[in-house]
Amino acid sequence: MSVPLGDFSHRQFLEEYWQKNPCLIRQAITNFDPMLDADDLAGLACEEMVESRLVTGSVDASDWSVSHGPFSDADFSALPEENWTLLVQDVEKHYPPLLALMQHFSFIPNWRLDDLMLSYAVTGGSVGPHIDQYDVFLLQAQGTRRWQITRTFEPALRKECPLNVLQQFTAEQEWVLEPGDMLYLPPNVAHLGIALEPGMTYSIGSRAPSAADLIQGLGEWLAFSDDEGGRYSDPDLQAVIRAGEIDGNALQGLHKLLLATIEENQDLNHYLVAFMSRYRLAHEPAAAAASIRTVDLLAALQDGSKLFRNPWTRLTWIENDKDARLYATGQPYDCSTWLAEALCEWEQPRIRAELLDQSDLNTLAELINNGHFLLTPVEL
Ligand code: SIN
Ligand code: CO
Repeated sequence: MSVPLGDFSHRQFLEEYWQKNPCLIRQAITNFDPMLDADDLAGLACEEMVESRLVTGSVDASDWSVSHGPFSDADFSALPEENWTLLVQDVEKHYPPLLALMQHFSFIPNWRLDDLMLSYAVTGGSVGPHIDQYDVFLLQAQGTRRWQITRTFEPALRKECPLNVLQQFTAEQEWVLEPGDMLYLPPNVAHLGIALEPGMTYSIGSRAPSAADLIQGLGEWLAFSDDEGGRYSDPDLQAVIRAGEIDGNALQGLHKLLLATIEENQDLNHYLVAFMSRYRLAHEPAAAAASIRTVDLLAALQDGSKLFRNPWTRLTWIENDKDARLYATGQPYDCSTWLAEALCEWEQPRIRAELLDQSDLNTLAELINNGHFLLTPVEL
């Protein structure tokens, strides 16, 4: 798979740019084939399961409005000639051939990547000047778009505006991106993209949990496990002095409980790995219609059947007594480390049947039965 970082090695890019500096890479992907066009994108945006937005308005007038899909043909035919953008999330999951594009970015750990968002904009189309909390690779797929950025800006947002648009924005740098060009932006760099002609931008977005997400998730994890994580106790309780007050001693006890729940929790690493396997996932795979028996699975693999990962399945793993505990959208599976790695590497994992012991075979069958992988028959 070719590297989309121009002259930079992965190491150089990560050291000098990742989370630090914006970086423009001309012709990151040469002869880039977008695979989808504006009509395909509009078609996706009409589907119930697809998360999409239509943003209308122009930077000059700041007259932004947003509507959310699913849309109908009538919504699209009512649009003006200029100044609108259609944005669709998770397109690589709805249209799996685009997973090949995500594979270019596999030098970044899979749990840090979120989704592929496609935006189609007509001339003047923009979502206004804003900041994002996540790193993003903006790959121009079709047409030209001008991107302006600045690192010095007032964070105040425009009031009474349906979008998070900065009140003020003065560009420090700007580029016009042509198909195949890519702009990497770390979080918190203000940016403004305006389509100079109708075209598409493919955004490879990352994800990073907030402390609030992690703590909320930990609470749910503990609530569902046998061990609630301890409970407040006060064997040295003193008689009430001021009604209603929670005094310093009590607060210290509550702090201690909270911190011990995090710092002394034997399961914390497992929680974190499980959490990241379902974080920000819009849908989860449904169980397969029929279960496969391990003997049939082994025979199918020996005959050359292929495995395909469900695009909605997220896999993360952690070493566990020399083996692996693999998490598939929050659910744990035990297997060998080589199987965990092979299953995560590529959405069509190549598994050599002769390497599978009975326990790995059981895990693989379970993953298939729970809808995380599809086993396709051998092509004739
Ligand atoms: C867009 O593609 O129009 C918006 C992407 C972004 O600014 O994050
Ligand atoms: Co943005």
